[in-house]
Amino acid sequence: MDDKIKQKLAELQKTHNEFWNISPEIGKFLNMLIKSGNYKNILELGTSNGYSAIWLAMALQETGGHLVTIEYSQDRQDMARKNLEDCALIDKVTLVQGKILEILKWLDLKLFYTSDNTDDTYIDFAFIDASKLEYIEYFNFIHPKLKKNGMIVADNVISHENKLWSYVDLMMAHEDYQTVKLNLGAGLLVSLKIK
Ligand SMILES: C[S@@+](CC[C@H](N)C(=O)[O-])C[C@H]1O[C@@H](n2cnc3c(N)ncnc32)[C@H](O)[C@@H]1O
Repeated sequence: MDDKIKQKLAELQKTHNEFWNISPEIGKFLNMLIKSGNYKNILELGTSNGYSAIWLAMALQETGGHLVTIEYSQDRQDMARKNLEDCALIDKVTLVQGKILEILKWLDLKLFYTSDNTDDTYIDFAFIDASKLEYIEYFNFIHPKLKKNGMIVADNVISHENKLWSYVDLMMAHEDYQTVKLNLGAGLLVSLKIK
């Protein structure tokens, strides 16, 4: 890993509670998933100050793809932009400010992604880490656009089990997905689209 990225990740780890960042272990795991699936078109819901986006964008340096990440707070988005610039990863990322469900109504994600898609499925990988009350609505948006063999990873399914049990139940029972709940960090639900 590049020294300036290593330094930035270490600096951001000091404030991870304040910005609700994923753990380094999860960052590395997401990075590995993206590289092993050669995923290119990535959507992140919940940018905060860009800690997870750094891990995602590092993987995109290898796969040659692009990340679109959405965040409500202008302050956090400004921090994320600066952090990605400091890591020289900003060209891999489009930061969008606003409420996710509002943005997803009008944003044409295809404009940011590789254009080798022959049908309406164009998302390779989605990382859900925003409002715990909206995970199912996020899924309803992503599902028809996710390619076969694409992946949805959702954070906090153990730490926020009381709010996310319905999302977990939905994914566990969904016949289009193979899903596993991992006791990593705050709890990750990893769902592979198999149909
Ligand atoms: C858990 S933090 C994201 C952490 C980030 N993924 C990381 O690991 O570095 C969740 C973020 O989602 C944002 N958020 C929550 N609900 C949102 C919504 N409905 N629309 C946009 N952003 C939202 C919050 O402002 C917060 O910064």
